[in-house]
Amino acid sequence: MKAHIVLAHPERHSFNGLLADTSKSRLDSAGWEVTFSDLYGMGFDPREASEHYTERSDEARFHAQTEQRFSADNDATPADVQAEIDKVLACDLLVVHFPLWWFGMPAIMKGWLDRVFVYGKMYRSAMRYDAGICAGKKMIACVTTGASANSCSFNGREADTRLLVWPLVFPFRYVGFDVLEPEVLHGIGGVAFTEGHDDGTSALDRFAQHWSEQIANVSARPVLPYNRDDEFDENLRLRQDAPAHSPFISHASNIPWPPATGEGDPT
Ligand SMILES: Cc1cc2nc3c(=O)[nH]c(=O)nc-3n(C[C@H](O)[C@H](O)[C@H](O)COP(=O)(O)O)c2cc1C
Repeated sequence: MKAHIVLAHPERHSFNGLLADTSKSRLDSAGWEVTFSDLYGMGFDPREASEHYTERSDEARFHAQTEQRFSADNDATPADVQAEIDKVLACDLLVVHFPLWWFGMPAIMKGWLDRVFVYGKMYRSAMRYDAGICAGKKMIACVTTGASANSCSFNGREADTRLLVWPLVFPFRYVGFDVLEPEVLHGIGGVAFTEGHDDGTSALDRFAQHWSEQIANVSARPVLPYNRDDEFDENLRLRQDAPAHSPFISHASNIPWPPATGEGDPT
């Protein structure tokens, strides 16, 4: 079994770095063959941009999906991106580690998605969701927050982190992964977390130990529920008889501004 670990943190000796090392050592000792991408350490360029493409479909105007598709069709995917794709497609388990920055992913993690999930290679209309290229593979995100568990709760001031994380892992479902329940570790970074407890451990030690147990038992971790492709109608809207698994794809809108009906769409 192969695992690929992606770390998105500017400081290799950060807590996120420790968590990623913990993933590697636990998976190594369980017999996994592990590859590791330290995105900052590699100098991964998160900007999808024209200079990455030596052969262009349109030299005059850069359209990202057009050039991604052209490069995929012409075996000219940028080398740094192809190296990541090879590791993702080879793995049975993908583990991503990042801190929550401004209620989302650090830019380097988002840019990894923008560039590595190449149109024409990692997805196209007939190859996504249930028919995604990564069907049968599992992924897990391990996310840290500076804010406390209370303030990241459903009624907390920082907004429900589980809702924030849902769209962050949705791209992985889009390309076909079974997305495991994310691990979110709260309150990382405060002074209290470096202070010792009576037993000589710190809160960071405890979080690290907790994650170590989670990654060691990753094969037993539940998969997030998503609707199957056949649970959407011809307009790609959720069928009335289908279950709703999240507020993001639901039977009734629960946001206060007028919901889009789909009527009058230009398409
Ligand atoms: C640019 C930036 C934005 C941040 N935004 C958030 C945020 O939206 N919510 C939060 O809880 N913590 C936020 N933080 C705190 C980090 O999540 C926290 O420092 C990190 O999870 C600690 O892990 P580390 O020690 O590995 O960096 C932010 C930190 C930075 C540098």
